[in-house]
Amino acid sequence: MNSALTIALSKGRIFKDTLPLLAAAGIEPVDDPESSRKLILDTNLDDVKLVIIRAADVPTYVGYGAADVGVAGKDVLMEHGGEGLYEPLDLGIARCRLMVAGPETGNSKRRRMRIATKYVKSTRRFYADRQEQVEIIKLYGSMELAPLVGLADRIVDVVDTGNTLKANGLVPLEHIADISSRLVVNRASMKMKHARIAGLIEKLRVACGSK
Ligand code: ATP
Ligand code: PRP
Repeated sequence: MNSALTIALSKGRIFKDTLPLLAAAGIEPVDDPESSRKLILDTNLDDVKLVIIRAADVPTYVGYGAADVGVAGKDVLMEHGGEGLYEPLDLGIARCRLMVAGPETGNSKRRRMRIATKYVKSTRRFYADRQEQVEIIKLYGSMELAPLVGLADRIVDVVDTGNTLKANGLVPLEHIADISSRLVVNRASMKMKHARIAGLIEKLRVACGSK
């Protein structure tokens, strides 16, 4: 049985925060993705590889089985829908909150409030639950700019320290969800490579202090 393991991670905060957890599970990358241009990184274990992809692509790679496991923010998983994925572990890293934010005093002149976000599905769900009709504009980043230039009345984005909002004269208005990063596992891999993956989950569970 082939129990080689491919782990999908994104560069930046998820890679940085996952590294000590993987080390506790006995997995250490040979290259640093911040300096290497390689997208498949070898590790100290011959049969464990890391694939380095965009944060929003992690559920897709794992869902299709192109990676066996991955680490993804709950914000990303809520948008993706989680088809084909197990989500066995909250790693407790990259903690933030998904929030509605906007100018402190901002009365929309529009009939429907306009919300700029990369989290279209979560935003639609949030306002639908409140039976509020809003117009949603899809952006890919720098959401904080949208209210400043009149593109939107409000934004939906993740907030941690609140510094980015503050630097742009915006305030958090409504809480949508608490976010942290989760271990996700391809459903078929979970069956085919059960011993290997269950072992990894247990080691990560201990390392992140989760129950
Ligand atoms: P990309 O860089 O590909 O556009 P991204 O900006 O969403 O994607 P990261 O900034 O690395 O990627 O964020 C990865 C995850 O970390 C997010 O999905 C979210 O769960 C969490 N996150 C985002 N911003 C913060 C933050 N300021 N503080 C803590 N966690 C955050
Ligand atoms: C995220 C998010 C906010 C900021 C919030 O951006 O999109 O802009 O963090 O964090 P804060 O409340 O601590 O200021 P990030 O730093 O990931 O930059 P990017 O997604 O635009 O690369």
